[in-house]
Amino acid sequence: MIEFRHVTKTYRSAARDTTVTALNDINLKIDDGEVVFLVGSNGAGKTTLMRLLTRMEVPTSGSLVVNGYDLRRIKKRRIPEYRSQIGMDFQDFKLFSKYTVYENVAFAMRVLGKSSKAIKTTVPLVLSMLDISARANHFPLEISGGEQQRTALARALVNNPKILIADEPTANLSPSMSREVMDLLVSLGDNGKRTVLIITHDVKLISNYENKRVVKFERGRIVYDSKHAEVGADA
Ligand SMILES: Nc1ncnc2c1ncn2[C@@H]1O[C@H](COP(=O)(O)OP(=O)(O)OP(=O)(O)O)[C@@H](O)[C@H]1O
Ligand SMILES: [Mg+2]
Repeated sequence: MIEFRHVTKTYRSAARDTTVTALNDINLKIDDGEVVFLVGSNGAGKTTLMRLLTRMEVPTSGSLVVNGYDLRRIKKRRIPEYRSQIGMDFQDFKLFSKYTVYENVAFAMRVLGKSSKAIKTTVPLVLSMLDISARANHFPLEISGGEQQRTALARALVNNPKILIADEPTANLSPSMSREVMDLLVSLGDNGKRTVLIITHDVKLISNYENKRVVKFERGRIVYDSKHAEVGADA
């Protein structure tokens, strides 16, 4: 479970000696196995939320507990163990252009110290699940944008994370490829075993997934949560 309680995150802009409040008193509870779309305009705080969840940033105040880890109190040496449960597919986490599709995905297992035997059995399975086996020995520049996106997803999934986070996974993709990648992401959470958080600007695209939760951010605050829309709570 993910639980934000009164989480505020401010950034200090050293150059101008000012602070920016990226998230302001956020209360948000996400159950295991939920598929959630996070939407909102530029600068609303979506990426900041992801950076808190991946423990790249720490809340300025409030509490954030994920899968039993208190992310404000977690010991430095336990951060890798915490992160191994989280798959990240960030727009700016580029594929290594000098590695093949296979090697890019295998790398994510290698950094966690997985055995070569485990890598040899798991990577082909994940490539096949994402339908990119035929591109295993190609380099990123030799494959399409959608295939690159699926490779990035394979990399995020190869360690079987409990939580998968994708930041703008369909940016730069054609509408049909966007639909394909989004269907795939939603289906990854559909067995209820994995929590999937998807940040997107593409509100039209998510209207295809009517039964999924949508949380909208505006200037650091949650202004809408479809899960609580009827009762008007939590916003
Ligand atoms: N490292 C940083 N230092 C200072 N300010 C930052 C930093 N990162 C983000 N901000 C500011 O925090 C606010 C929220 O930014 P954030 O990146 O979370 O927005 P976002 O919702 O992801 O926007 P976008 O849709 O454009 O990606 C913005 O005002 C942004 O300028
Ligand atoms: Mg962002």
